[in-house]
Amino acid sequence: AHIWQGIIKEYAEFLPEHLKTNIVTLGEGGTPLVPAPYLNELTGAEIYLKVEGMNPTGSFKDRGMTTAISAAAAKGAKAVVCASTGNTSASAAAYATHAGMICAVLVPDGKIAMGKLSQAIAHGAKLLQVDGNFDDCLVAARKLAESYPVELVNSVNPDRIEGQKTGSFEVVDVLGDAPDIHALPVGNAGNITGYWKGYVEYEAAGKATRRPQMWGFQAEGASPIVAGHPFDEPETIATAIRIGNPASWDKALEARDTSGGVIEAVTDEEILAAHRILSAKVGVFVEPASAAGVAGVLKRAQAGLVPAGAKIVITVTGHGLKDPAWALRTEDGAEVQPQKVTADVMSIAQALGLA
Ligand code: F0G
Repeated sequence: AHIWQGIIKEYAEFLPEHLKTNIVTLGEGGTPLVPAPYLNELTGAEIYLKVEGMNPTGSFKDRGMTTAISAAAAKGAKAVVCASTGNTSASAAAYATHAGMICAVLVPDGKIAMGKLSQAIAHGAKLLQVDGNFDDCLVAARKLAESYPVELVNSVNPDRIEGQKTGSFEVVDVLGDAPDIHALPVGNAGNITGYWKGYVEYEAAGKATRRPQMWGFQAEGASPIVAGHPFDEPETIATAIRIGNPASWDKALEARDTSGGVIEAVTDEEILAAHRILSAKVGVFVEPASAAGVAGVLKRAQAGLVPAGAKIVITVTGHGLKDPAWALRTEDGAEVQPQKVTADVMSIAQALGLA
């Protein structure tokens, strides 16, 4: 049996040499591509979920972090820094500590999910809660890396994109070719940039005969690319994508336009409805931001914009355990209170409606 060795070794021939001299890996990549028949029924398409919550720290960020931290290690870096809405910080902290590096993270105060905060702290990061949003954190992190001996590991670092492009390679390796459409959430726009680069390179290498349309979805209250201008005060319950001025804005537009795709907005209600469908019907538990791609595809299907039978891959970016509180609310926002019973079979059978 083949034992998965992490994306740098698995896709070495498609990655630059400087990433391979000092590989720092936690075994990222090789994530499941799960068929979702329930979503096929809702859309008339053929849908697969690329379940990135199955990465070592529970999000897609690990693909780009193995490459960014390996490059930093090859340079002899002692410390790294990132701005984050949570997942990047969790990933950077894990890979940095594995490599024996110090990790500093800047997060928007009070606006990152508890699971992610816990991860960064557990992995020993120096975590600073900044009085500002993600965009403010990223400006500060970039300036810090310019003036002090710390490497920036946000997706503005091209080594990050190199890792993230391997998501596309895996999709093509499983399906045998590129899908018709690849949908995903868009925040800072690093992932859509990475996936598009991956599809273009795999086609050029003869591994695929075509490329998909890229469909990106932002949360409506944080949808600068859709609106065509930065948002000073982005707001959404999907805190992972609460970003008003994406760093890879231009590259997201290029991916959209070259692929003949779209970047559109979905409301928080649509995100939560998709989150609920994924957990209650498909059996895949994701964090709210990760449901934005599914919300977008469902919205377009309702508008008649999903071609019948289209093969669609949707990246669900992060694990539900990152931000589990959303599962404990009903559709109208009330708290879910699990029923209590005494420890005898009769009361349990009654509670289950069996007796
Ligand atoms: N989904 C999740 C769960 C994320 O954490 C992010 C970004 C995205 C989607 C959007 O991806 O930024 O490449 O367009 N999270 C970053 C972070 C910003 O700091 O963890 P993107």
